[in-house]
Amino acid sequence: MDKIKIAILGMGNVASTLVKGIEFYKNSTEGLWHPKIGGFSLYDITISAVYDIDPSKVGTKIGQIIDHRTEFSELNILPGISEDVTPARVAKNGQIKSVSYDEFVNSLKKTKPEFLVNLISSGMEKSSEKYAKAALEAGCSFFNATSAKTATGQALKEFQSKELMILGDDLMSQFGGTAFHRGMIEFMTNRGIKVQKAYQLDVGGNQDTMNTMAEETREKKRQIKTESIAIEAPYSFRSTAGTTEYAEQLGDSRVSYYWMEAKGFLNSTIEMDLSLKTNDSTNGCNVIVDSIRAAKNALSKKDLTKADVISAYAFKNPPKKMHIRECIKAFEDAFLN
Ligand SMILES: NC(=O)c1ccc[n+]([C@@H]2O[C@H](COP(=O)([O-])OP(=O)(O)OC[C@H]3O[C@@H](n4cnc5c(N)ncnc54)[C@H](O)[C@@H]3O)[C@@H](O)[C@H]2O)c1
Repeated sequence: MDKIKIAILGMGNVASTLVKGIEFYKNSTEGLWHPKIGGFSLYDITISAVYDIDPSKVGTKIGQIIDHRTEFSELNILPGISEDVTPARVAKNGQIKSVSYDEFVNSLKKTKPEFLVNLISSGMEKSSEKYAKAALEAGCSFFNATSAKTATGQALKEFQSKELMILGDDLMSQFGGTAFHRGMIEFMTNRGIKVQKAYQLDVGGNQDTMNTMAEETREKKRQIKTESIAIEAPYSFRSTAGTTEYAEQLGDSRVSYYWMEAKGFLNSTIEMDLSLKTNDSTNGCNVIVDSIRAAKNALSKKDLTKADVISAYAFKNPPKKMHIRECIKAFEDAFLN
């Protein structure tokens, strides 16, 4: 069977975990949500190129960034493109290393990935949009984990006309704040309980949480999360969800605090107050590897309509929103074998 060739944008936290995972799951399936999707295991995924703009990363090898030895350790980190204000943590390492849009497209044409996986920093909206355009031009499908809006109606048509997929936007972790919140609302609704008010406050300690603290990015993420959660109830209720604070001591962990008030028989009050602690980068990787394998399967059958199901399964802000239970079922019906 053909390998699935991916190129990664942004050699940060999630990318490092993804590389480690692809190596680890050559010999194990422990911890995988779906060991096989569309007939593919993780062993079938290979990395053809990696791009970044951080001067401390570009020009080095993957093996210098991550502590585990992997099949990809000797892969050079290539310069990407940058169209936004550089995140402070990257800027402190010196002048960014980037190339022009045309040079980047040529590099993609040379490394020939089937999927360009966008894992760059939050808040780099214009860069993400440019990367999507470059993917289209170079003839590869695009997977956007960032909150930039790339999977728009126009882009969907353009990718489809070239028999490619654009999947996005804003990765929904396997068991992160949003998925858990949606699951709880769905369960209450199914049990006939009426949710009245809810909030979710997130605290994280990694680089991405720090980038999300910029007011505009934070507001955008809050809106995406709130809208994503609202879909689970057939009525509207007062809800707020978002990345709220950066606390360095949490490292790659994230703590989500939930509070919900709901009404039952005779208007009785049900109040829920709980917290969930997870690890950010590992929480995203099952969803990434599932989506890529599913997309490869659908593309090989020229079934581009499956992009809607994959995006609803994998992202908080997909072109077509589905209930959390529905999209998992539709995804598994289509790709589990
Ligand atoms: N579970 C999760 O971790 C999760 C969930 C949802 C969304 N996401 C999104 O995934 C993305 C990656 O998250 P992360 O924790 O790995 O972030 P990170 O900050 O650890 O890594 C981002 C990397 O992108 C690089 N970068 C910045 N601008 C770039 C550009 N123009 N071109 C190439 N590289 C660039 C940075 O130098 C850095 O190496 C973020 O946008 C995040 O919001 C992650």
